[in-house]
Amino acid sequence: MAAGEGAMGGPMYLGLDLGTSGLRAVLVDAGGTLVAAAEQAAPVSHPAPGHSEQDPAHWVECCRVAVAKLKADAPEALSAVRGIGLSGQMHGATLVDAADNVLRPCILWNDTRSHAQAAALDVTPGVRDLSGNIVFPGFTAPKLLWVEQHEPDVFAQVSKVLLPKDYLRLWLTGEHVSDMSDAAGTSWLDVGKRDWSPALLDAGHMRADQMPQLVEGSAPSGHLRAELAAEWGIEGPVVVAGGGGDNAVAACGVGCFREGDGFVSLGTSGVLLAAKDSFAPAPETAVHSFCHAVPDTWYQMGVILAATDCLNWLAKTLNDSPATLADRLPDTISGPSGTLFLPYLSGERTPHNDADIRGAFVGLDIGSGQETLTQSVMEGVSFALRDSLEALKSTGTQLDSVLAIGGGTGSRFWLESLATILGLPLRLPAKGEFGAALGAARLAMVADGADLHDTMTPPDVAETIDPRADLTAAYDESYARYRALYPSIKAAMT
Ligand code: XUL
Repeated sequence: MAAGEGAMGGPMYLGLDLGTSGLRAVLVDAGGTLVAAAEQAAPVSHPAPGHSEQDPAHWVECCRVAVAKLKADAPEALSAVRGIGLSGQMHGATLVDAADNVLRPCILWNDTRSHAQAAALDVTPGVRDLSGNIVFPGFTAPKLLWVEQHEPDVFAQVSKVLLPKDYLRLWLTGEHVSDMSDAAGTSWLDVGKRDWSPALLDAGHMRADQMPQLVEGSAPSGHLRAELAAEWGIEGPVVVAGGGGDNAVAACGVGCFREGDGFVSLGTSGVLLAAKDSFAPAPETAVHSFCHAVPDTWYQMGVILAATDCLNWLAKTLNDSPATLADRLPDTISGPSGTLFLPYLSGERTPHNDADIRGAFVGLDIGSGQETLTQSVMEGVSFALRDSLEALKSTGTQLDSVLAIGGGTGSRFWLESLATILGLPLRLPAKGEFGAALGAARLAMVADGADLHDTMTPPDVAETIDPRADLTAAYDESYARYRALYPSIKAAMT
């Protein structure tokens, strides 16, 4: 018997988080305690500049392999699974024909080929009002307009459009279903009404019958196919919850769903998310307003396209590792770097909605070395998240402190910089499982009958990083200089 299996006997829940780099699977007990975890990487291909694709067959393979690892490590726990929850990278267009065959590789959230179609759809009357959002180039609807123009044969055969985790659900259950939080990122959903919008579908040249059925993230969407249940050694019926888009489900993992709750995520991309108890769209600010993965709840978020990706880029350029660069900085800050960094390495969403803008270092000195560059990169990413905070604030959203999650939170220097630049205390969760895979397992518990509020609790806080009041004025001044740079860099690039 594997470690962690001893005290069980009760029902188990499987959380599947399908990210861009691969799939993470966790087995948790009914109290949300981690019993076993497994990961499997998936490749991404970039067949042309701005193109980013994945083969949906790899997602199924990742799931098979990850569950096989769980079966090897914790067979009894796996056999006690009563519910499965799904979290997924958002916006990807998986196109299937009437026999559910995949028609072309999935066009991912970070693919910008459809920027012209996005811009056209974005100015179509009514589109922003109903979808509550700018039509960003990474969203799903413009991708289908691109396919219509560039691959008309494929477009003609599209029977259903599925988001990445919904394709995995099709394999798990045989059902075409999506959930509100993921569907909110398509530009086909009336985000206020939580239903497909005939007007938006019309604007995107799509039909209602090409859309999956919708459920709430915490509601049942189907049951695990008997064949898979047998293969995994599970006897009873296994409910598959609606699940959700990765940020909504991560919010479930940290119990962030009441007005005033929020988190900042320093992941590959960066996110500042605030839960909302009503739909409060403000597309003109480039803030995203999406349905949450739990009923009658929404969230707002600012998204920056490159957060730890900027440090990864710098490390690669300097032939070093991101962790080593971060470790060379002191644990505490003493004032902003004189050098400014614009983190627009892949374009930007909030607040600029600009797929063409690119990054810059400004103010390099003959003495600027590796440490200055690392500090400037961390500050630039933090300034970009301050832009997101200002955008959220301009809609009336208030946050007094936020949880800080994601790989970048491993650096004390970055955390103190970010807390001071945002002017917000950052609460650091105690070590343990609290990400989207746990959120997915929690949605499965609720779909299996558990109480939502009892299930979606916040993690224990290990430590709170406060803003450095003595340095706030200096970072504010640096932020003002950062803000002024975007128009000049934009002009220099066009
Ligand atoms: C959200 C977004 C990302 C992706 C990839 O709008 O684009 O969070 O879901 O993780």
